[in-house]
Order: sequence, then structure tokens, then C-alpha cells
Amino acid sequence: MTVQPKTAVEPAVHAPPAEIAARAHADAARYAQMHARSVADPEGFWGEEGRRLDWMRPYTRVKNTSFGPGEVSIRWFEDGTLNVAANCIDRHLKDRAEQTAIIFEPDSPEEPAQHVSYAHLHAEVSRFANVLKALGVAKGDRVVIYLPMIPAAAYAMLACARIGAIHSVVFAGFSPDALADRINDCGARLVITADHAPRGGRTTALKSNCDKALRRCSDRVKLLMVARTGGQVDWLEGRDHAYEAMAAQAPADCPPVEVGAEDPLFILYTSGSTGKPKGVVHTSGGYLLYAAITHHYVFDYRDGDVYWCTADVGWVTGHSYIVYGPLANGATTVMFEGVPTYPDAGRFWQVCEKHRVTQFYTAPTAIRALMGKGAGPVEACDLSSLRILGSVGEPINPEAWNWYDETVGKGRCPIVDTWWQTETGGILIAPLPGATATKPGSATLPFFGVQPVVLDDQGHELDGPAEGVLAIKDSWPGQMRTIWQDHERFAQTYFEMFKGYYFSGDGCRRDADGYYWITGRVDDVINVSGHRMGTAEVESALVAHDKVAEAAVVGCPHPLKGQGIYCYVTLMDGVEPSDALRKELADWVRTEIGPIAKPDAIQWAPGLPKTRSGKIMRRILRKIAENETDALGDTSTLADPAVVEDLIANRVDA
Ligand code: WTA
Repeated sequence: MTVQPKTAVEPAVHAPPAEIAARAHADAARYAQMHARSVADPEGFWGEEGRRLDWMRPYTRVKNTSFGPGEVSIRWFEDGTLNVAANCIDRHLKDRAEQTAIIFEPDSPEEPAQHVSYAHLHAEVSRFANVLKALGVAKGDRVVIYLPMIPAAAYAMLACARIGAIHSVVFAGFSPDALADRINDCGARLVITADHAPRGGRTTALKSNCDKALRRCSDRVKLLMVARTGGQVDWLEGRDHAYEAMAAQAPADCPPVEVGAEDPLFILYTSGSTGKPKGVVHTSGGYLLYAAITHHYVFDYRDGDVYWCTADVGWVTGHSYIVYGPLANGATTVMFEGVPTYPDAGRFWQVCEKHRVTQFYTAPTAIRALMGKGAGPVEACDLSSLRILGSVGEPINPEAWNWYDETVGKGRCPIVDTWWQTETGGILIAPLPGATATKPGSATLPFFGVQPVVLDDQGHELDGPAEGVLAIKDSWPGQMRTIWQDHERFAQTYFEMFKGYYFSGDGCRRDADGYYWITGRVDDVINVSGHRMGTAEVESALVAHDKVAEAAVVGCPHPLKGQGIYCYVTLMDGVEPSDALRKELADWVRTEIGPIAKPDAIQWAPGLPKTRSGKIMRRILRKIAENETDALGDTSTLADPAVVEDLIANRVDA
């Protein structure tokens, strides 16, 4: 049922469809009651929910967390022990050995899909774990995974978990340099890759990227290669190992290792306001529980469902909602190797039809791109299996929301707009399909155990309807524990600015119904096609080019990507600006970081607006990029106000 808005500014409210509410894991009353309890008695609530997992040694202590003052310390279920892979595989063998765990849909629709049962997953992961052991990987060691979206990526992650090794998945779209930085930062002893990665009908030479990256790493780092295409690769005897040959020798049995709830499960690098990407550390017990319970409630997952999250395992969404959450719940999860528009703009819908997908979870950027292709490709497919639609990664604009609702969901599938972050491990704010009325563009209400607050610039909590920065008042089990080997930076980044709170870096508005509307980042992080990018990273790539003297990078509105990358570049004396140079610089950034960092606009800037103390006034640069030049605000503190006139006059379109 849709209630039309009373005024133009008030959005339509979509109540949960009655048939969904009647069968869902939670209706409105149950959500309210469970949320209230989870906040009033977190020990009791999570103490009970923790039993969703199989523990080797049960915990007696549930929550031991502090956001300061004093040391920031986050521990959940700290005296419990478990094995994450056993929770995702072994414990399901009794009831669902023959059930499909993973449906693999290859890049090319010509190539047959694979159905991996839980029994088969058990054998593959055990064998993979034995290969890791044969290569000397032991509990606590770091393993970098640089793979396409193939089942081996999940096997590799779970194999690490099985032996207590810590994985760090690097998105296969990242450059050799970005890969090397991550291998070095986490001190990995092994990198797992594939020969080539097919994607969208093209292939990326992953092995060759690894070869380049490893030139910048210690000689001790070994390479394990999975064959995906069978294509040509270079081989370094002694360093390189072929997975298939080793697996043929490996036993198919590998006992899961007992790890502490607070032992790290993985490190995932993500962009921040400053410096190089930081290694976000998630641990075993709390993370897995939180991924599982959110997957259960937010997607209303039930036996027999076929759940598809279109993310890549290189991002946190792939970790929590392709691999760990669904498999911990004994679900059937789809892994898709390709892209939404290959071979044509109907691919997502063809895959939904082919596998009878019940939950479909994607990013607004994909929805906008497909919306641009019209309703035809959607209507060519039978989407009657769909029950719930999800959105993640960036704010979803109401036009895209409505198209998703009407054209894809035919008005009968609740949309769960899920707000969360690499740091939060799982979904923090989202509707529950049978419980929460939705409004296009709002992530709605907090999940169990989550206490969002809206703060003003001084860090005061605002009541009622309000706009400010989004922070979280107390810990939840899926929260990141630290930055790899830099606890100080962890405390400083997230807990320093607003004392006693976890600071998200996002701005938000809360309406009269208590619904949250995420307004975007308030820091120097931009969100390009749902991918996080630090403006500082793009700037340092630009200034590494020998024709560039100085660079400043900001986000700008982009019709498909949400935000685009807008670069102001000051050239070295004597270098002439040209379109050819623009292209050269854009390609340069692409090679330095990866295709997702390719600039959308490069403006030549003879000078950048700076304060008298030499600080770049990014606020002004953002306004110019957004083409809001009549709202520049106070420019009186600028060292040279004429610089701004020039920038406005020479603005470029992204
Ligand atoms: C943004 C992705 C609005 C936000 C899971 C956040 C969103 C950043 C939403 C984290 C949403 C994510 N609505 N904005 N539903 N989901 N974001 O770490 O700015 O890649 O801080 O995690 O994406 O991106 P990350």
C-alpha cells in the first residue's frame, strides 16, 4: 500500500506488503520490542543471540567495550572460542549437505553455472586449507587474496578461516601498486591470485599484476595461482605455485582450528580522509554473529530462498553478504563474475530469472545505469521469484528507488536501503521487510543493538527531527576492532572528534518519524559508483606525475556514479595544458590506483585557493565542482581571491 504524500516535500510511505509482514521473521511490534531490549540490555540480548553460532568453548562474558575516555577497546564474547569456517560449513552438513551453498554464474552466459553443495564446499575448503598449510601458512599469518568473483575466492577466504590465518582480499580492479601497498602493510606471506580474470567480456591479467606488485615486496612472499582461463602467464620457479597441482596432492580433510572470538578474521583496506588506505580489522565471533543476524532479518532469509548480492568480494559487502552472513545461515548465495551490462543490459534480470532469485541486493549506481536502458530488458524476464530488493553503498535517489520498486519489484517487493560501512562489519540502519514502512531515499531505522545519534558540530546530541553528523553511541558486535598495527590511528579517526561516540564520517537527517536519511560524507572521502575513494589518494597519484606541481581533488555530482572525481591540477612551470595531457593524467591515475579512480574531470588551475597559512580551502573547490558558485561563502581569508575567479571561469563539466 502506498500513501501519497500530503505535500511535495513529504515522500510517499510504503507500508510492508501484508503477505510479507505476515510471514516475516519480524513484524513492526516484534522489531520495536527487540530493538528496545537490545539497547536496554545488550548483554542479555547478544548473550542469547550469540547462540546462533556454534562455539567450541562457550563465552561467559558478552560485552566488554569502551569508546573512551581512556583506551578505546572493543571486545565481544571474549572468552569464547570457535571456528568461522566450521560455522559456515561443517555445522550445516548434518541437515543440508546436498543443498546448494554457492551458485556460480560466470561472466559469459555461454559458460554453464555451477552449483556448489555444502558437502562440496566442505571438501574444497578443506583441500584449499591443506594447500595453505603445505605452503607454510599458519594461524595468525596474513594471506592476500586477489581473485576474480569465482568460487575459489570464497574457498580461499574460508580456508584461511579454517586454519586461523587472516585474509586480506584486494579488489581485482586495483593496480599492482595498490596491491603491493596492501601486501606490504599487512606483512602477507602469501598472495593468492588467478591467471586472468574475465569480466564484461574482457580479461584482466591478474597474475601479471601480481608479478609487478611482488617486485615491490619481500622475496619471502609466495604466490599461489588458481587457473581461471588457462591463459598464458610468466612463472617464477620457487616463488610461484599452481593451485590445481597442489590440490591434487592435498587431503580433503582438514580439522578446523580453534580461535578466540577476538582473534582477527580479516583485514580489509578502505579509504579514509588522509593518507594511505587503512587496514580495517574484523575479528571472528562478533563479526560472524553480526553478519549472520543482519542477513537473517534484513533480507528475511528463509530456507529455500536464493539470495543474490551483486557486490564483489573485494569489498566489505561481498565479505558480509556474499560469503560470511549467508553461509553462516546455511543459505544459498549467488556469486556473479560479470557486470550488469554484459552481454547486454538485461543480464541482472536474466540471472534472477535463471536461478529464481528471491532476494536481490545491489548498488544505486547499477540501478541508475539500468534505469537508463528503460523497462524493456526487465520486462523481458520473469522476475516473479523476487521477494526483497536491497540497496547499498551510497544514498539512493528517489527516482532510482521508484524505478526499482515499480519496474523491478512490480510494487510487491519491499526495498531495504541498507546503510553501513567497512568499519561497521554489517548493516546498521535499514528497514526490516515485514516490519518497517519505507520512504524512498531513507535507510529508515537502526538494527538491533544500534543506537544512532545526530550530533551538531560541537558534538552535542540533537533531539527529534534534526540534521548533523551521524555517530553511534555504543558498540555492536560487528564493529571493527582496530586499524592493523595502528590502534592510535583507530582511536583518533573514529573516537577523537566526538568524544564517547563512534564517528561515521557521514552526515544525516532524522525526520519526525525518527527515520534516518544519509546525506553523504562530511569528510574528504568521496563515493564513486558506491566505491569509497580518498581524495588524498588521487591527489598523491597526480603529484607523482612529473608534469604536475600540485593537485586538489574533490567530489562532484555525477548522474550515474553518484559522485565523480573532480581534479584541480597545477602544472609544472613551462608545461602547456592540452587535452592530450588531460588524457595522459587520467590514464596515469587509472594505472596508479585502478580503473575506479579514473578522474571524471580535470581542470587546469594556475593557482589553488589557499588561506594565508597555505591551507587549501577545499570547501570552495567543492562548490566550484558542484557548480554552486554563487554559494562560495566567505572568501575573505584567501591569500589571493583572484584565484577563485579564474577557477570559476574555467570550470569543466564532469
Ligand atoms: C556510504 C559499504 C547512503 C556512506 C557498505 C558510508 C551509504 C560509505 C549507504 C561506506 C546507504 C553506504 N545510503 N550512503 N544505504 N551505504 N553508504 O565502507 O557514505 O565501502 O560511509 O561500505 O558508503 O562505504 P564502504
